[in-house]
Amino acid sequence: MNISRRKLLASTALLGTLAQLKHAAFAKAVADTGLKDHYQKDFLIGTAVSSASLAENDSKMLGLIAREFNSITAENAMKWGPIRPTLDNWQWELADKFVDFGTRNKMHIVGHTLVWHSQVPDSVFFDEKGKPLNKKALLKVMEEHVTTLMERYKGRIPAWDVVNEAIEDDGQWRQSPWYKATGTDYIARAFQLAHEIDPKAHLMYNDYNMAMPGKRAGVVAMLKEFKKKGVPIHGVGLQGHVGMEHPELAELEASIVAYAEQGVRVHITELDVDVLPSVWGITGADVATRFQYRPEIDPYINGLTAEAEEALSERYVALFKIFLKHRDKIDRVTLWGVSDNLSWLNDFPVPGRTNYPLLFDRELKPKAAYFRLLDLKR
Ligand code: G3I
Repeated sequence: MNISRRKLLASTALLGTLAQLKHAAFAKAVADTGLKDHYQKDFLIGTAVSSASLAENDSKMLGLIAREFNSITAENAMKWGPIRPTLDNWQWELADKFVDFGTRNKMHIVGHTLVWHSQVPDSVFFDEKGKPLNKKALLKVMEEHVTTLMERYKGRIPAWDVVNEAIEDDGQWRQSPWYKATGTDYIARAFQLAHEIDPKAHLMYNDYNMAMPGKRAGVVAMLKEFKKKGVPIHGVGLQGHVGMEHPELAELEASIVAYAEQGVRVHITELDVDVLPSVWGITGADVATRFQYRPEIDPYINGLTAEAEEALSERYVALFKIFLKHRDKIDRVTLWGVSDNLSWLNDFPVPGRTNYPLLFDRELKPKAAYFRLLDLKR
C-alpha cells in the first residue's frame, strides 16, 4: 500500500470514529433533553427533591430530575425541624446530599427555608419553663441558625427563601411566635443578615395564596416599607399551590405584575395543581389544616378520568401561558415535586387521598400535561 492510500484509509477511519462520537454525543444530548431545555430561553424549571429520594439515593428519580429540571429545592431536608431537631444537634446528611447532587449536575440550588413558623421545635421559641423567649434572645437564636446554614453552603446555594409565610391572606401580619416576640424586626434582620453573610445570594420572600388581593396588598406594602429602609429583598416567591378553579388567572397575573413593579424578581416556587374536590372553598397551604377523609371526596383512586386528565393539562397550559407572557419578570418556575405518588397533596388537607397534581405519574412516566407544556414551546 502506498503512503497516500494508507493516509486516506487512516483519515477515513478517523472520520468514522468522529462520526460515531458525534452520533453518541447527539444521542446523549437527546437523552439528556428535558422540560428545562425547552424553556431554556424563558426561565429555570425547578422541582422539589423529597427527603425519601435523597435518603434512598433513588437513582431513577434523581436521574429523571437531572434530565428534566435545572433548579432544585429541598422539600423538607433544610427546614429547621429536620435539620436541627434540637438546638445543639444539626443533621446535615440529607442537606449535604441535596447540595452535592445539585452541584454535581450544575443545577441552580434554592435554600428552603431559613425563617418559618412551621416545623420549628418548641425549644426555639420557649425557654425550659415554657415561657416565650424575649425579642433579643429569639433574634439571637435566629441569627445563629441563619449564619450556620448559609455559611456551610456559601458559594454553592445562590438563592434562599429567607422568610416564609409571614403574611396572612387578608394582608395582616401572621401572629407567629416570631412576630409576637419581635414585630416585623425578625424579617428585616433575617434579610440583612443573609445579605451580610453572602452578598451575592438572591434573597426571597416566599408565600402561598399570593394571587389573593389581600395577600398581594400586604406583600406589596412590606416590599415598599423594606425598600425605604434598605432591607435587601431581591425576589418574591409565589408558591403556586393552586386548584382547578382557584386562583383566577387574572388575579395571578395581577400579582406577578404588582410584585415585579416593586423591583423584585418573581419566582413560582412550589407549583402543583390539586385536582380533588375542595373541602374548604379555596386552596392554600397552611400545613396545620386537616379535614376528615370521606370516599366521596376521593373520586380518582383508580386513576383520573379522561375529562379530568384533559382539564388538568388545560390548567397547566393556562398557567404556563401566563408565565411565558411574563417571562421578563419571572426567573424560575419550580414544581413542588416530581411524581404524583410523592406529593404532599395526597395527605393534605385530607389524609389518605389519591391526588394527581404533578407532571409525572406514579410510574415516573410523563403525563399528558407534560407533553402539552412541551407543545407550548414548539
Ligand atoms: O419524615 C417523617 C417520618 O419519619 C414520619 O414517619 C412521618 C409521619 O408523619 O412524617 C415524616 O415527616 C413528614 C414530612 O413531610 C416528610 O414526609 C412530616 O410529618 C410532614 O409534616 C412534612 O410535610 C411537609 C410540609 O411542608 C411541612 O413541613 C411536606 O412534605 C412539604 O411538601 C410541605 O412543603 C411546604 C413548603 O415547605 C412551604 N410551603 C407550603 C408547602 C406545602 O405545605
